[in-house]
Amino acid sequence: MLRSHTCGQLRSQDIGKSVTLCGWVENNRDHGGSVFIDLRDRYGLTQIVIGPPEAESSLIDAAGRVSSESVILVRGKVAPRLVGKVNEKLQTGEIEVRCEHMEVLNPCPTPPFTPSQPELPGEDLRLKYRFLDLRRPAMLQAMELRSKIIKIMRDYFAHHDFIDVETPILGRSTPEGARDYLVPSRVHGGKFYALPQSPQLYKQILMVAGFDRYVQVAKCFRDEDLRADRQPEFTQLDMEMSFVDQDDVIGMIDGLVQRTVKEVKGMELPLPLPRMTYQEAMSRFGTDAPDLRFAMEIVDISQIAAEVDFRVFRDAVDKGGFVRGLNVKGKASDFSRRRIDELTDYVKQNFAAKGLAWFRVEQDGALWSPTSKNFTDVELREIGQAMQAEPGDLVMFLADSWEVTCKGLAGLRKRLGAELNLYSEDAMSYSWVTQFPMFEFDAEENRWIAMHHPFTAPLAEDLEKLKSDPGSCRAQAYDLVINGSEAGGGTIRIHDGQTQQQVFELLGIDQQTARDRFGFLLDALKYGAPPHGGIALGIDRWVMLFAGLENIREVIAFPKTQKASDLMTEAPGEVDAKQLRELHLRAF
Ligand code: AMO
Ligand code: AMP
Repeated sequence: MLRSHTCGQLRSQDIGKSVTLCGWVENNRDHGGSVFIDLRDRYGLTQIVIGPPEAESSLIDAAGRVSSESVILVRGKVAPRLVGKVNEKLQTGEIEVRCEHMEVLNPCPTPPFTPSQPELPGEDLRLKYRFLDLRRPAMLQAMELRSKIIKIMRDYFAHHDFIDVETPILGRSTPEGARDYLVPSRVHGGKFYALPQSPQLYKQILMVAGFDRYVQVAKCFRDEDLRADRQPEFTQLDMEMSFVDQDDVIGMIDGLVQRTVKEVKGMELPLPLPRMTYQEAMSRFGTDAPDLRFAMEIVDISQIAAEVDFRVFRDAVDKGGFVRGLNVKGKASDFSRRRIDELTDYVKQNFAAKGLAWFRVEQDGALWSPTSKNFTDVELREIGQAMQAEPGDLVMFLADSWEVTCKGLAGLRKRLGAELNLYSEDAMSYSWVTQFPMFEFDAEENRWIAMHHPFTAPLAEDLEKLKSDPGSCRAQAYDLVINGSEAGGGTIRIHDGQTQQQVFELLGIDQQTARDRFGFLLDALKYGAPPHGGIALGIDRWVMLFAGLENIREVIAFPKTQKASDLMTEAPGEVDAKQLRELHLRAF
């Protein structure tokens, strides 16, 4: 090594030692005759003093000229800092290195931003100069946390006898529901590989092969619209197990969550993690990924609403809809009319709600709002009781279809939870949502689509509904939810060809298409497939949530923008005509 120590290593017990340090110049300050350099590497900062008597004036001059972010090597002796100059915030804050020799290993021109500048540059600039951005301690910490979480996962599954198997990146399209990234074949003109949306089919085949327990840290590719928690290329902890039911898979992941919480947060998490069915999640929280860091559950007052004079409520129920609401406990005084109007616009614009009905709970417990004159006192009292309303509360309602009340109230709940600080910043919640519907009806395409993927097994008791009433058929599917984000999802699979064929048919995949696309899977299911199931965890999301960050790009070394480009390498890029010809392609 060029160096004897790192920049985060030296302490007062090292005083008197001769050392060699290497690193980046965080800054240099000229203090009349002596130059002070903060030298930085991954491990920390050390103060270097270049001054008499150790350093000659030519060295002092050179040190004064060295630009920030240059890479230098420094030799010198560890010395105590002057009384009053100890920096308690720095691990090396008791010492400094008095420089005898300095080499500039690589000078740095003025960078577009420095890692230590207090205000963060725009994200585009950060992504273009990612090598500078990754020098920021916050980025380094996020990447260290990522590395730690992946290690915890690998250790955990190795301990439980899982075999780590790499599955192909160049493969056939897997139906996870997103658009595929395609790779043209040079050898087979006009044919394409698809990058895996997940290793789903391979891991099922590995179960048929008798591997019993498979795990992989797998790169997945999905060409879908990007959001703060989605990337076109992301990483899953993917696993599959044979001879298991849903409780076995959930139990295995419960143990992993507990271990991760222990090692990352130093906290004991009691098991089992809470579980609720999809139906319960939609009723209580309006979403299949409920944030359990705070209460404020949805209450259904449709029965009361059906009898009132207020047309907005009664009509909604008459048309088969619902009146459901939230109680914002003790916060009525926080809400001016203007703020309520803002919330009304929010639910109208984002969730197609028709309005927002609200009441303030007065000191005497009575519900009041401009609309309260449409209700009798008895009705207001009943609504108040249903909402467990107390003086100072604000209750609000949506009268609409099941879907709109779910989406609108879930949106309000999420927004108010954050705006009103209903949970502490470091609080975390973990839960399972189970018994998802097997199918969703796609009105645009006028057909059923699989809610998870088409290899998911129905609940045994719903098997007979597969044909007669697919909409109410529930799946052996389970999602892990952390802080209101889907942090993982899996299912027990169909392990017999006949049921698989039935599900394909229902999804409008005829026998020939099924044969063409998944013939190998249907064959495998015929040749001795054990009952099996598994799950995939979104590693990027886990790291983001455990780091308390809100943007997935903050936990990926080289992420893509919302427009799926890499600003540093400028991918995707153009290729020359020859390459295209070889691939039998023409650019339009
Ligand atoms: P699913 O599609 O639910 O399941 O994906 C599993 C988990 O991966 C994460 N995830 C993403 N993370 C970042 N960017 C994305 N674009 C993205 N898409 C998904 C989520 C999600 O919960 N083969 C099945 C698993 C199985 O059935 O075993 C699958 O891929 O955290
Ligand atoms: P209107 O009678 O349309 O003036 O509405 C009276 C109040 O009811 C206003 O506060 C509206 O925002 C609210 N409102 C209207 N439609 C709905 C609805 N579908 N659900 C909840 N509140 C509504």
